[in-house]
Amino acid sequence: MMSNRLPLILANWKMNKNRSEIHEFLQAITGKLPLTNLLQVGVAAQSVYLEKMVDYVNHHQLPLDIFSENLFYVNQGSYTGETSPAALVDIGVKGSIIGHYERRKLFKESNGSVGLKVAASLKNGLLPLVAISEDTSTYDPTDIEMSPLTEIAISFAGIDKKWASKIVVAYEPAWAIGSDRTPTLKEIEHAAKVIRQSLTVIFGSAAANQIRIQYGGAVTPENAKAIFALPNIDGLLIGRSSLVADNFLRIIDDALAVEKE
Ligand code: PGA
Repeated sequence: MMSNRLPLILANWKMNKNRSEIHEFLQAITGKLPLTNLLQVGVAAQSVYLEKMVDYVNHHQLPLDIFSENLFYVNQGSYTGETSPAALVDIGVKGSIIGHYERRKLFKESNGSVGLKVAASLKNGLLPLVAISEDTSTYDPTDIEMSPLTEIAISFAGIDKKWASKIVVAYEPAWAIGSDRTPTLKEIEHAAKVIRQSLTVIFGSAAANQIRIQYGGAVTPENAKAIFALPNIDGLLIGRSSLVADNFLRIIDDALAVEKE
């Protein structure tokens, strides 16, 4: 990869895996994750299991960062049912997925709340991974729709460019998530370029070039390497394929091979 952005391979387990399945997965990858400074690797899981996961990772010294799949934008107070950024930091969580398509669609998460969550993450020292998606009905690969660009503009309004190196944007076409189809490599690279252009408008080019852009949606061990190798793609957000330890490890090995090329 030609940039100096550290690629991030992140598993998004969504609402899958119970306590013993998580333990089994962590045991299966123990001793098998590469010790490297060429790649950052993480797993995002349900909040209820995060502390146990962090403890396992620390105890076994795994090169693995634990992420939450959501968070709230206030650290403390009368917000029944929400998860505080400070609480996530307290248990050793590294970052959080923000505004995943499923949260936007099923739980009506707005661009405005995504923006507040980005600011709260940065303030608390958590990495914000902002997922942006095109809606199935509006997708046109030759002309990336305005909706993800609006998502970007609102998500990062008011964020100082000094935070750029901490920000991750995941480009996930809505129709690819949970499907067996991905855009072509050309379309993914094009979308990433357009996203970087719009980040440049917000942050200026030096800062925008520090922001990592991941691809997510139907990533598999078969297609991961070619997508990961695209010049404007700095990592992968992986749902279903990350649930099987061997698949996750294979994708990580392939990504590392690309980084070493
Ligand atoms: P998928 O999910 O890899 O199962 O398509 C990706 C995501 O929703 O982040």
